This record gives sequence, structure tokens and C-alpha cells, in this order.
Amino acid sequence: MKLEDLCTPALVLDAAVVEKNVHRLANYVKSHGLGLRPHTKTHKSRKLSAMQLATGSIGLTVAKVGEAQTMLPLEADMLLAYPALDSHRAAWAAKLAKQTTLRVAIDSALAAERLSAAASAEGSTLGILVDLDVGMGRTGVATPELLWQLAEVVLRSPGLRLDGIFCYPGHVWGPADQQAQQLAPVSQKLAAAIDLFAKHGVQAGIVSGGSTPTAYQSHHVPQYTEIRPGTYVYNDMNTVAGNFCTLDDCAARMVCTVISNAVAGQVVLDSGTKVLTSDRCIPNLELGHGLIVEYPAARITKLSEEHGQVDITNCDRVPKLGERVTVIPNHICPCINLASQVWWHEAGEITPLPIDARGEVV
Ligand SMILES: Cc1ncc(COP(=O)(O)O)c(C=O)c1O
Repeated sequence: MKLEDLCTPALVLDAAVVEKNVHRLANYVKSHGLGLRPHTKTHKSRKLSAMQLATGSIGLTVAKVGEAQTMLPLEADMLLAYPALDSHRAAWAAKLAKQTTLRVAIDSALAAERLSAAASAEGSTLGILVDLDVGMGRTGVATPELLWQLAEVVLRSPGLRLDGIFCYPGHVWGPADQQAQQLAPVSQKLAAAIDLFAKHGVQAGIVSGGSTPTAYQSHHVPQYTEIRPGTYVYNDMNTVAGNFCTLDDCAARMVCTVISNAVAGQVVLDSGTKVLTSDRCIPNLELGHGLIVEYPAARITKLSEEHGQVDITNCDRVPKLGERVTVIPNHICPCINLASQVWWHEAGEITPLPIDARGEVV
């Protein structure tokens, strides 16, 4: 199949760009002696996970137990980067831990209790990373002292094995050349936690952190043993607008058709929130709902479920009715989760790529 044969809207992945992104980060972590545990929430695909593992990733990160179940055939060591404390998730995780090494990041004694009960009932062992908030204020206990208290709970819980420390610097979006400064407090807080563990005779072992915006600055946190970026594999307008990549590094593009030009100063695309999501571009809220590559002066100002309204008043040439255009979404991860299948574009040929873990939200 050729690109022009696709029915739109169609999310197309450029294989050469994906490979470039995967190899570039693989080379960076190798040169800094870091482990890479890519987050599969971005691609939700066994093919992409296999590609990441084949280029040296030490294992996979998942957000949900259903994603871990989907990736199980790859026989990878997995980190569930989510406080899986409800009994249903805990039981499912404990079951999976019989088939692969599975670790869970937690920030409460209740999560330890539930996961311990589930692992004991299943006769499995779950690795645990204790979650320290390093500034994002989403999950993670507030201080190294609280982290050690939680670690002590894990140490005395049957079925659990304390494997290390977890953090997520999701608040760091500054320019790359200012990140050394922004990551210094992250490093200091982790160092304090590691010291406290050592004072009690416990080696932290794994120290897991990282994100796409900070991926290439991870060496400023020398405590990390592994990083978990996910978006880097495809990139999106968030990554571009933050100056963490260029447009050429964006592997995922939505091919759309202009379906109306009846209203003056506007065209309408066949892509609304059910395709592009309503996520805004975090570093540049003025950008609209994604970038139309062929018409950078156009702005997707409004989305309804199936329609994308584009303001073309600043364009010196305008898209024609029936014309196909290419949109780079603001945030690629939820766009992927909205598609049952996307299209893999390699050497001029297009083949379907299933989104294996689509809708796995448990
Ligand atoms: C806990 C955790 N780790 C890692 C990541 C990956 O970060 P990114 O989307 O910047 O690649 C995320 C992203 O949401 C996350 O929530």
C-alpha cells in the first residue's frame, strides 16, 4: 500500500525517524553508563518494544497492568510505574510476577500491604521501588525520611523485595542548557535518600527516573541507574516547542483531509478530538491543536469530536478542498491510544501496525 491509498484520518509512523530516535537515545545512555527502560505508554506496541529491547534497553516501563500483560511475550523485565494498590491490580500484578521480573513503584504503606497480600496469595515476589517526589507534586512521598519509613514497611512485608528508589522529574521542562540547574535539587534529594538507606545498611540498588524533556540531560542526576522516557520514540509538538527535538525528529504524523472551506477564513479537517485529543501544547499554548506541516501559518483553533477548524487568515496560500495535509499532534501518547491501528511507513511502503495495548487502562 502507498501513502496516497490511505483513508484519512490516518496516523502514519516514519520508520526511519523512529529508528533514528531509538538509536540516538540508546547511544546516549550507553555513553553515560545508564540503563534505558523506555515507557511503553507512548507506543503501546510489541513491535516497538522489541525494537527498543534489541537496541540495548534493559527492560520496559508500563503504566498499567494490562500493558504489562500485553508486553509479556517479550520476556522483558518490567517496571509498573504506577501505584497499583487496588486489589484487582495488585492480584493481576502478582500473577504476572510469576512469569517475569515485575517491579512496582509505590508511595504508601497501603500499597505495600495490598501488593504483599496479593504476592503472598499467588506465591510470587514483587520487586518494589519506593517513590520520592522530586518536585512534580503528583505521586511520591515528600522527604527522604518518609521514603525510608516506607522502605522499612516493604522490608518487613512478605512477598515484596525492596529493589530501590523511583522518581519522576515531570516538572522539568526548561531549556536543555538550564536543566543542570533544574536537576540539581533532584540529584540532591536522591543523594540524601540513598545516604539514609546506606545509614541503615541498605543499598538503594535501582534508582529510576527520567523523562523525554530531560532525557539527554540525565547525566546531571548521577544517582540514576536507569531512565524511563517514552515520548522520545515518536516525539510531538510538546517536544518540539520545548526545543527537545526538531520537526524532523517527529515520527508520528496525522494525515488529514480538508473537508470544508465554506466559512470564510477557515478550512475544516476530518480530525477532531477523537483523533488529535484536546491536549494543548504545554510549552506554547498559542500553537493550537497541533502543527499543519505544509501550512505552518495556519492554526487549528477549535476541535469538536470529528472536525478540526483551521484559521487560515495568516496563510499566504491556503489548503484546497479535498487536499491532504499532515498534522503533528501536540501530545502523541493519547493519540496512539485512540487508534486501533496506525500505519508503519518504511521504504515507501505502508503496512498496518496494531496498537496492541490500546485501551489497557487497568
Ligand atoms: C512515571 C512516569 N515515568 C516516565 C514517563 C515518561 O515521560 P515522557 O512522556 O516525558 O517520555 C512518564 C510520563 O508520563 C511517567 O508518568
